[in-house]
Amino acid sequence: MSWTATILTLFPEMFPGPLGQSLAGRALENGTWNCDVRDLRAFGLGRHNAVDDTPFGGGAGMVMRADVVDTALDSVSRQDGAPCVYLTPRGRPLAQADIRRYAAGPGVTLLCGRYEGVDERVLEARSIEQVSIGDYVLSGGETAALVLLDACVRLLPGVMGSAESGVEESFSDGLLEYPHYTRPAEWQGRTVPDVLLSGNHAAIARWRREQSERVTRERRPDLWAAHLSHSSSRPSVQEGQSL
Ligand code: ADE
Repeated sequence: MSWTATILTLFPEMFPGPLGQSLAGRALENGTWNCDVRDLRAFGLGRHNAVDDTPFGGGAGMVMRADVVDTALDSVSRQDGAPCVYLTPRGRPLAQADIRRYAAGPGVTLLCGRYEGVDERVLEARSIEQVSIGDYVLSGGETAALVLLDACVRLLPGVMGSAESGVEESFSDGLLEYPHYTRPAEWQGRTVPDVLLSGNHAAIARWRREQSERVTRERRPDLWAAHLSHSSSRPSVQEGQSL
């Protein structure tokens, strides 16, 4: 049984979208993963297949009904251990550790919200994880679901070639990646750091580590602080260096 993304959405034609291309597209074609898209409208109520209603307490916008979402989730075969995730700007921030956990399991069920969101009771009753992809508001959960799936699919066995191996990439050690260079060695008067042309693999590894640490310190003090507290038993190369 391949890794399965079950997606509940009012816009089923948005999937697989960009994930039908490139690495994820090839993996979809060869059956490494499976994209099972369900139209929430099909579970709507009444003559108009209503999926939403006005919010109790008043206010703008509409809320997706708990009973409709519940019925839609009932239609999804319960894969053992496949988490159900609701994409919302109110969720906890999605991190690479979550992606690794999702990719290691049988798949994920993704609930994509529109309007003002989903009635809180079905999220509680179903123990649905609430996840945000960043501190900005999208017009719906679909693009966030595509982001989550892209990050998962590339980690599935056989999807990334050895050249694209995830071992050294950003976040694998809680650090951002070092900068990359290729030919030409000089471009518009800009050269490549000498050490990268030296052939000295130990020196190159040391330089890359220093660069990773510098860039993390400068751009992401939050990640740098977390890295320092996690690696206090394993001193880093340039801890004392100023920016
Ligand atoms: N839906 C709307 N905005 C979102 C965000 N930032 N993350 C996840 N889902 C969303």
